[in-house]
Amino acid sequence: MVTLIPVDGAPLGRPGPSTVAIRPARKDEVEALQRIERSAAQAFRLIEALSWIATGDVQDAGRHLDLIGKGTNWVATADGDDPVGFLSAEIAGPELHIWEISVDHLHQGFGIGRKLIRHAVAEAQARGLAAVTLTTFRTIPWNCPFYERLGFSLLDEAGLSPRLAGVLEAEAGHGLPRDTRCAMRLTLPAT
Ligand SMILES: CC(C)(COP(=O)(O)OP(=O)(O)OC[C@H]1O[C@@H](n2cnc3c(N)ncnc32)[C@H](O)[C@@H]1OP(=O)(O)O)[C@@H](O)C(=O)NCCC(=O)NCCS
Repeated sequence: MVTLIPVDGAPLGRPGPSTVAIRPARKDEVEALQRIERSAAQAFRLIEALSWIATGDVQDAGRHLDLIGKGTNWVATADGDDPVGFLSAEIAGPELHIWEISVDHLHQGFGIGRKLIRHAVAEAQARGLAAVTLTTFRTIPWNCPFYERLGFSLLDEAGLSPRLAGVLEAEAGHGLPRDTRCAMRLTLPAT
């Protein structure tokens, strides 16, 4: 059978995976995670101002290994044990901060990203943390609006902690225009 693949790389009418599982990432998977992030970034190719992200840098191997060591780097697998997505996070004080979430381009839109976020939130809750935080693009449909649907709230400038303000500032230094970025927070119920 022929699968039709349009120029942007997303197959038409393809079925999603039957089983998706989330587990801790392994050290020997770092290169695969970097490939996934490059593939995921294809989603930005059609957004003119951000198309450079599709060929930009990915999270470096050192951070991946550090977060794997800390037990806060998770992968999603689909119909097997090979990763098709990952979520890298780090505990910062009483909060779990999500540094990166990526799902391989051909596996996007099947709920895998949602499962990764829910897993990170459940892990933060299980560790007795107060919140989950992240920074993202304000208007990209699969960024801020997606996280809002998962319960995250947009923080206004006055609501930014010094840590999150610092993350946004550092991102601006790496070419992510500050006015397009925002920080979000999901408060966890006290345990
Ligand atoms: C963000 C990302 C991880 C989500 O993974 P995913 O497996 O596609 O996510 P899901 O299938 O669980 O759902 C994504 C949501 O975004 C929406 N979405 C995805 N692509 C979209 C598009 N091109 N246009 C509009 N909405 C889109 C989906 O409809 C879905 O909405 P829902 O909450 O109503 O179901 C994935 O899109 C990705 O890797 N993007 C590129 C990297 C990136 O932007 N990372 C986040 C940095 S903050």
